Amino acid sequence: MTSPGSLRTDREIRVRAPGKVNLSLRVGAREPDGYHPLATVFQAVSLYEDVTARPSDELTLTVSGAQADRVPTDDSNLALLAARLLAARTGVDAGVHLHLHKGVPVAGGMAGGSADAAAALLACDALWRTGLSREELSGLAAELGSDVPFPLAGHTAVGTGRGHLLTPAMVRGEYHWAFAVRAEGLSTARVFATFDELIAGGTRLDAEADRALMHALRAGDAPALGRALHNDLQHAALELAPSLAEPLAVAEDAGALGVLVSGSGPTVAALARSRQHAVVIAAAITAAGVADDVATAVGPVPGARFVPAGSPGVPSPGVPGGTGPEGLDRTV
Ligand code: C5P
Repeated sequence: MTSPGSLRTDREIRVRAPGKVNLSLRVGAREPDGYHPLATVFQAVSLYEDVTARPSDELTLTVSGAQADRVPTDDSNLALLAARLLAARTGVDAGVHLHLHKGVPVAGGMAGGSADAAAALLACDALWRTGLSREELSGLAAELGSDVPFPLAGHTAVGTGRGHLLTPAMVRGEYHWAFAVRAEGLSTARVFATFDELIAGGTRLDAEADRALMHALRAGDAPALGRALHNDLQHAALELAPSLAEPLAVAEDAGALGVLVSGSGPTVAALARSRQHAVVIAAAITAAGVADDVATAVGPVPGARFVPAGSPGVPSPGVPGGTGPEGLDRTV
């Protein structure tokens, strides 16, 4: 147990955590606990959540960036839940003010909320000097949500269990993405429930199914990766949001190596041949008027990491022409 007095610090801690795209998402039949066994391949991409933690007597939260108005700031916010969980488990009796700057689409199937929670765990652990290992933080992350451990780890990883058990994947090269963002999000739970209705229990996870995809990643073969992209939840996401067929088709017409709905959607991800080609695909989506916003990114990128307080912020979808500190993020 750490005494509250020793926890006071004037420091401001800033952590940046990435969003993700599921290169493959294979879903088994619903289990009695309500969750579905998954076999998935996550890739962290250069759309970021920036979380700043400052000392406070209470637990409070503010949000900025695109779609900030759609993020709950009450106790249901995953970043606040993360701070609360860390405090409870380490016996810390201190508060924190968290500020989230959103660069990942909200409720978009890219784990933006999960990235906030992962970043909040790391930031509060530093602010409160609780000194947890990455493994311990990852354990807490899994309690917060199936997708929370991945933004801590970053890069490219195979996820099993509920998606929370991670094994790093060997990857050569970098992959360029264009994203079609929809203003109205989709509830993950609803997409899984629709998946249940559509498949009526008739599904089994095939451990060998992603052999071609893993080979493409090891070889750095973007066209082969494009052909191997797969999402078992895509049908359900399209059932709930049929208009997603439009950005999928436009991206394909613009020469994408592969297109799919990201995770539970509704963000549509298109794999491009190059950074320039990603901008071309994003521009085609904008010109066709089939998305509320677009973004481009590269993957894989590292997981949650400390950034110097006061360094330039990352751009958010909706900030025209914004360029991230690594010169990789752009909205068109
Ligand atoms: O784990 P998390 O709370 O983020 O999941 C949100 C919802 O997504 C769950 O309540 C569940 O309905 C669904 N889910 C699932 N199977 C998974 C992961 C999530 O059914 N492996």
